[in-house]
Amino acid sequence: MERRRFVNWFLGLSSTALFGSILYPVWRYMNPPEVPEASTNRVEAGPTNDPELIDNGFKILEFGSLPVILIRVAEDDFRAFAGTCTHLDCIVEYQSAERRIWCNCHNGEYDLQGEVAAGPPPKPLEVFEVDLVDNGPGQPRTVVVTRT
Ligand code: FES
Repeated sequence: MERRRFVNWFLGLSSTALFGSILYPVWRYMNPPEVPEASTNRVEAGPTNDPELIDNGFKILEFGSLPVILIRVAEDDFRAFAGTCTHLDCIVEYQSAERRIWCNCHNGEYDLQGEVAAGPPPKPLEVFEVDLVDNGPGQPRTVVVTRT
């Protein structure tokens, strides 16, 4: 009798653990954690001579959960746009040789005003304001991006 009770208890515990290990991931999938929204409308993107900006011509900033692409068009010409394609939300990149913002998911293309130039994107990229803040003589200016 004692052994039978132990086996029943053990099978009950095992069944509970098995159902828990199946149901918990399903429940987490159905209820994903809250992703923080953009908690700021202003981000300091670093100095104008940031090596990433000089080498790649762009970098991706984060406004909370919102990616923003900052583009160095020329030494004193910086532009910023929402970093997700308006088609299906892929992250865009800047191609300096073609002077275009490009989405590699479906070959979407935007011009340097964020307007759709080619491909499937249905609307332009959101434009962000870029300011260059002076840091005194001999110091590189700081790029500040603001959501307007
Ligand atoms: S997601 Fe960018 S073109 Fe489709």
